[in-house]
Amino acid sequence: MRNFRCYQQVDFDLPPGVNVFVGPNASGKTSLVEAVLVLATTKSPRTHHDRELVRWGATWGASSGEFYCDGDALASISVMVQGPAEQAQASDAALPSVLTTPKRIELNGSVCDSVLDVVGQAPAVLFSPDDLQLIKGGPKVRRRFLNTAISQLMPRYLDDLLRYRQALRQRNELLKQMQAAQATGQDLAPWTSQLVQVGARISTDREQFIAAVKQQATGLHATLSGQSERLSLRYESVLAGGEDPEQRAAMFREALERHHEQEAHRGVTVVGPHRDEMVIEVDGYDARQFASQGQQRTAALSLKLAEALVMQQRRGESPVLLLDDCLSELDPQRARHVLAVAEQFEQALITSAGIDQVLRESDHSAWFEIADGHIGQQ
Ligand SMILES: Nc1ncnc2c1ncn2[C@@H]1O[C@H](COP(=O)(O)OP(=O)(O)OP(=O)(O)O)[C@@H](O)[C@H]1O
Ligand SMILES: [Mg+2]
Repeated sequence: MRNFRCYQQVDFDLPPGVNVFVGPNASGKTSLVEAVLVLATTKSPRTHHDRELVRWGATWGASSGEFYCDGDALASISVMVQGPAEQAQASDAALPSVLTTPKRIELNGSVCDSVLDVVGQAPAVLFSPDDLQLIKGGPKVRRRFLNTAISQLMPRYLDDLLRYRQALRQRNELLKQMQAAQATGQDLAPWTSQLVQVGARISTDREQFIAAVKQQATGLHATLSGQSERLSLRYESVLAGGEDPEQRAAMFREALERHHEQEAHRGVTVVGPHRDEMVIEVDGYDARQFASQGQQRTAALSLKLAEALVMQQRRGESPVLLLDDCLSELDPQRARHVLAVAEQFEQALITSAGIDQVLRESDHSAWFEIADGHIGQQ
């Protein structure tokens, strides 16, 4: 890390297995796992504004990492970003000559023009306390979960998603223009075709992914809750249940026709995968409305661990599992269970603010202490 959040300059090696990071509040634990996730997904889970990642007072910042699988080099990734303009003005430090754009991504030493080239090269899955929003938040949070996870599984999905968003934007713009009689149904047709075709594939991928995650998450949640609760997931969409992408495309087209009056009136596309939902139930009741705080936390953790297990299964190689500050809320038995799952991955990074007894007793490979943006191995 270089000028990344609270870190000025930190270099270190992480062995395979469970790596534990212990440090007080505000010492840099979340920033560390964030730096790894930025390499895996090119984006921060905490902010949409990359410049916020740059250490206060610095003109630029970077996270770089070399990833290995079974000891073989897998990928070397570097993400450099420019800091806020006012920081650049106030500082004498020049930008590195290569950083001519707000963000520069390198894969194996070559600059990447598209995130498609990087996402999925070195996959990682993060669970943090913010993931409670997966259960408590609106459908958008759960669509984001699906998008991030499936994009890392297959680059084609991310490509489809970008195309879908483009078609949706164009289509909505035309619907608005049609209200003012500045465009016709004929202008709309090509965008409808793209939306339908790509949307059908996205929907197929989502439904399959949810089925796979459900299988893992149900088992995990049962174990974590001492077999007393049953977690279930359901894909809710106008395209749900379609047999293949062709049938889904036909369903989508039909739904658009059915809602045409409404979309013409409102000037936006009112049906489609951009309105999809993943319903999460505990013991048959919607977890968002009815689950207790503890049940919601267990459900979110089960979902994230399941995502990582599905990724491991489908890709045949293990994602890096990042568990940020998730053990202190659990009783010792549940915490031990989470650690046992973490040990199934080739590498896991686990942070904690307290020095939990359970962590001390765990089968970890390395133990680090973090203080004020410094990381020391014990
Ligand atoms: N761009 C930045 N530049 C410098 N410092 C930052 C930046 N962004 C956040 N910080 C600070 O970095 C420190 C570490 O934050 P971080 O979220 O990593 O802490 P943490 O160890 O996860 O704490 P907690 O246990 O409370 O979750 C905080 O003091 C935070 O205010
Ligand atoms: Mg934190």
